[in-house]
Amino acid sequence: MSNKVIVNEVGLRDGLQNQPKHVPTEGKLAILDALIAAGVRSVEATSFVSPKAVPQMADAADVFAGLPLDKGVSYEALVPNEKGYERAIGAGAKTVALVLAATDTMNRKNINMTLDEAIGVNIAVIKRAKREGYRARSYISTAVHCPFEGYVAPEVVFDIAAKMADAGADELVVSDTTGGGNPAQVKFLFETLAKRYGADMLSGHFHDTRGMGLVLTWAALECGIRKFDSSIGGLGGCPFAPGASGNLATEDLVFMLNESGFETGIEMDGLRAAIGVAETQTGLKLGGRIMSWYESQARREKAKASSAAAE
Ligand code: HMG
Ligand code: MG
Repeated sequence: MSNKVIVNEVGLRDGLQNQPKHVPTEGKLAILDALIAAGVRSVEATSFVSPKAVPQMADAADVFAGLPLDKGVSYEALVPNEKGYERAIGAGAKTVALVLAATDTMNRKNINMTLDEAIGVNIAVIKRAKREGYRARSYISTAVHCPFEGYVAPEVVFDIAAKMADAGADELVVSDTTGGGNPAQVKFLFETLAKRYGADMLSGHFHDTRGMGLVLTWAALECGIRKFDSSIGGLGGCPFAPGASGNLATEDLVFMLNESGFETGIEMDGLRAAIGVAETQTGLKLGGRIMSWYESQARREKAKASSAAAE
């Protein structure tokens, strides 16, 4: 089984979408530059959603126009419907990420559709993307827990997954929108889906609300999953899902993976610099669980180096 893990950075989209402070396009691109310098090579850059629903993403086309295309980075854009698809492709996206939730209420709150309507829209857009030569990721949000309807039956997720796979989705993203999941649920979902579609077609998207993000990641890794979404500094949350706090922090994910012998191609000092840029742009104090330990280590190393130099 491969030791390489793709860390898909979603901070520019999931991380920023509910930030009240407007981050200008140049600020978003500055965060991206720092992430690329750290070794990040897979990025969800923005979302082509209604600017009335999510004002922070109103500059989606400008963000796409400013993406550095010469650094070997794969970029994707989240789209909720056909209009979003057309805007994303018009802006140069090669991969679109469709979004639906596993419950009716969450779809109504998030994209103003019933579950059945959302399934229909996702199928139509995935089929169109495949016909037109683009890659389609398929988010299944609230796959384990919905803030409105509670725990979600795995069969509902399996049924949606089958419909998206039949439509031609290249990837199924099992998403714990509110961080309400536990490792037993996540293991069962991934074990079953991996048997049906192969682990390469699956990825995990975890929010760290209850401190479970890394444990859920580990449960998925044990099922062979090798791609995970995360957000720099732990930024983020869905504006339409009460209680959804930040995504699993990229630095926590990368630290765990690197320490465990997985290859991410991303280095921690670079992520530390990227957190600094994100803090400047958002005005927030950021950083995953690892950062306070990491900073104290760095201070200790620096003190050791300066006392050695003084001797
Ligand atoms: P609606 O009001 O039902 O849409 O919103 P509509 O079709 O009735 O259109 C209303 C207006 O919006 C029209 O403009 C449309 O042209 C426009 P008007 O005539 O009033 O000037 N419109 C659009 N404009 C730009 N881009 C579009 C678009 N579509 C329609 N794509 C809609 C429905 C889906 C548009 C809206 O609810 C929406 O944009 N929702 C997005 C919500 C969102 O971004 N949520 C966060 C992302 S999902 C998430 O975070 C979960 C995830 O991280 C995984 C996890 O954690 O589980 C992915
Ligand atoms: Mg999310």
